[in-house]
Amino acid sequence: MTELAATFKQQAVAQAYRHRPPYPDEVFERLLDLITDAPRRVLDIGAGEGALARPLAPRVEHVDAIDFSQPMVDAGKQRPGGDHPNLSWQVNPIETADLNGPYALVTAGASIHWMPWEQTFARIVPQLTPNAQLVVIEHGAVDEPWLGELIPIIERHSRKKNYDPKFDVVDAIVERGLLDLTGRVRTTPVSYPQTVAGYIERLHSTSSLARDLMPADEAASFDASVAEALRPYAKDGVLQLQIQAELSWGRPKLPG
Ligand SMILES: C[S@@+](CC[C@H](N)C(=O)[O-])C[C@H]1O[C@@H](n2cnc3c(N)ncnc32)[C@H](O)[C@@H]1O
Repeated sequence: MTELAATFKQQAVAQAYRHRPPYPDEVFERLLDLITDAPRRVLDIGAGEGALARPLAPRVEHVDAIDFSQPMVDAGKQRPGGDHPNLSWQVNPIETADLNGPYALVTAGASIHWMPWEQTFARIVPQLTPNAQLVVIEHGAVDEPWLGELIPIIERHSRKKNYDPKFDVVDAIVERGLLDLTGRVRTTPVSYPQTVAGYIERLHSTSSLARDLMPADEAASFDASVAEALRPYAKDGVLQLQIQAELSWGRPKLPG
């Protein structure tokens, strides 16, 4: 796990990251509704290139975006909104980051499964306002008709060999006694057109399919197989994705 998480420190992964579809607008509406305390300061853990932090920054008082990958943070600073005055970037593991609370909201977008939970929660909890919530957010394409063809290709090349589709990170954190879960919601799917080439680059932005983990000939063969599998579904080289996010939130607790 730690080894795979380190792939986020690779330049190629940070560059491929811009091919990930953005979070739907509904995510931000729901996050803003979950802030009930002042000051409206947000801590975004495992912020990556700021897919959550950048759109949030102009709508709150401040966002501290923490990520241990220098290339991801560098990419985020270059992307739209990456230089907003309400946004502070910090390259550090969350376990040792300088936190500057109190925070009225903590967001973790596709990141908390990478973190050591006890150490992470021990850092976060003392920095919260009385009603602050931790929100775990995942998002991606749903109802992809090409999955039957795509999954065997991914399984052949993925570096993550113990993938368990039934594992639910939020349930696992609740079971560990670290979160009082109060809400869980899926957003309404929104259409997102993406070229086949962009879709393939998006796959390479994942830790288990990073280009740097594959010899060049393997990467070329992966790309060709995926393109072949997707071609029947694309119109003029463009796929119509349906993007949905899931938000799970509650009050984080100190390790017992
Ligand atoms: C899949 S990316 C998600 C990025 C962003 N939150 C988003 O939703 O697009 C996961 C990020 O978590 C970061 N990360 C993993 N473990 C971390 C840790 N212990 N401390 C800080 N960042 C971490 C990685 O560097 C990576 O940028």
